Amino acid sequence: MSEQRATNITWHEHHVSKEERRQAMGQKGAILWFTGLSACGKSTIANTVDHMLHSQGKHTFVLDGDNIRHGLNKNLGFSAEDRAENIRRIGEVAKLFADAGVLTLTAFISPYKADRDAVRELVENGEFVEVYVNASLETCEARDPKGLYKKARSGEIPNFTGISDPYEAPENPELVLDSDNKGIDELAEEVVKWLDDNGYLSMS
Ligand code: ADX
Repeated sequence: MSEQRATNITWHEHHVSKEERRQAMGQKGAILWFTGLSACGKSTIANTVDHMLHSQGKHTFVLDGDNIRHGLNKNLGFSAEDRAENIRRIGEVAKLFADAGVLTLTAFISPYKADRDAVRELVENGEFVEVYVNASLETCEARDPKGLYKKARSGEIPNFTGISDPYEAPENPELVLDSDNKGIDELAEEVVKWLDDNGYLSMS
């Protein structure tokens, strides 16, 4: 966890309350945290859920690993330390989006349980929904859409998750998606249904 370096800074309370923001947005903000191996389907499912919710008139946004690593986190690599910092920053950004009332979908491998749990701790109970996109290494390696597993196997990419770096599967995720056996649309529907069943898509 990063230490507090700046001194002489004061936290300003927001004057518009969370409840008032919810009323204005017509929804509650939350973080839908998709985690899983590279090529497990995280980004594709998150983007499909994004489209489905958007077409229902919901305010949504997707934060995606490959994209964020081109900007905000372009100075980070794939060591355990850098991955922790990657997830810490994304967690803080996602929290700001959720505080603004947005249903925020994040798609990062986020291989370390401690890093994901630290994000959960940042927000209120129920505001962090961990979605484990469960696809076996065999499935992901067979898909290999970016040819990265091939490169990892040949030693061209070090510290590659699932090959030469660990992936710690969630122990108690809110949702598990069976990406070995089901297609993107079916899994996205499962997420939307879960959100609906658990009150995330209504104000009451
Ligand atoms: S995380 O582990 O820090 O959460 P993140 O989701 O941001 O990773 O980025 C993963 C993406 O970076 C992968 O989908 C892949 O395209 C690319 N990548 C490049 N090198 C690696 C690596 N060593 N391990 C995993 N993914 C990598």
